[in-house]
Amino acid sequence: MDNKNHIIIINASPRKNKNCASVIKNITKKFEHNNIKYEVVNIYKMNIDYCTACGYCEKTGKCVIKDNMTPLYNDFDNSKGTIVVSPMFFQSISTKLKTVVDRTQAFYSSKYILKKPSIDTKKERRGMFIAIGGQPEYENQFLGGQLVMDLFFKSINTKLIKNLYMSNSDKVSYDENKEFQSRLDESIDNYIKEIKLI
Ligand SMILES: Cc1cc2nc3c(=O)[nH]c(=O)nc-3n(C[C@H](O)[C@H](O)[C@H](O)COP(=O)(O)O)c2cc1C
Repeated sequence: MDNKNHIIIINASPRKNKNCASVIKNITKKFEHNNIKYEVVNIYKMNIDYCTACGYCEKTGKCVIKDNMTPLYNDFDNSKGTIVVSPMFFQSISTKLKTVVDRTQAFYSSKYILKKPSIDTKKERRGMFIAIGGQPEYENQFLGGQLVMDLFFKSINTKLIKNLYMSNSDKVSYDENKEFQSRLDESIDNYIKEIKLI
């Protein structure tokens, strides 16, 4: 597909056809209805290695590792936005998603160490973070993941406009959770409105 001005949807669950997958199915249905270009990125199916803190990006603004993360740097740069859908793992985002987040250190280094951004910092982009937790709602259930994602969206120069949380998915799945379905519908409608303005 033409990876320009599209929306990147990251599926950060290792499980097929579970809650994150159902959420994404509903987002893509709305995007298609509204002629919004998108790409679903299933990170658990991709070869994406850990950041080794080698320091190469501090000198070059690029990552030395060449794998399935490599084209994603340009994709983030060219996109109009990114939606991340992640399960909570030990009060945080999923493991593979953290690997992707760490690899965007190349953008961070290019901006704040080299002062030669390897991402267009003037381009308007919009972000959304959707987190699914298996446990019934409890205080700070999503806080750990949220803090990481706040930095991630800064790293990819994307304005985070909405955080959406669903608890208790191990008892009541997305497909059964009408209350969350309507919150998702409303949030995606608003996201589409914002995307159409930029
Ligand atoms: C390793 C692991 C850690 C988890 N930690 C939490 C947690 O800290 N809080 C929580 O609410 N759910 C936790 N869960 C439950 C998942 O967030 C939940 O099953 C979610 O629905 C998974 O998303 P999926 O259905 O799209 O795979 C954990 C699950 C796993 C496998």
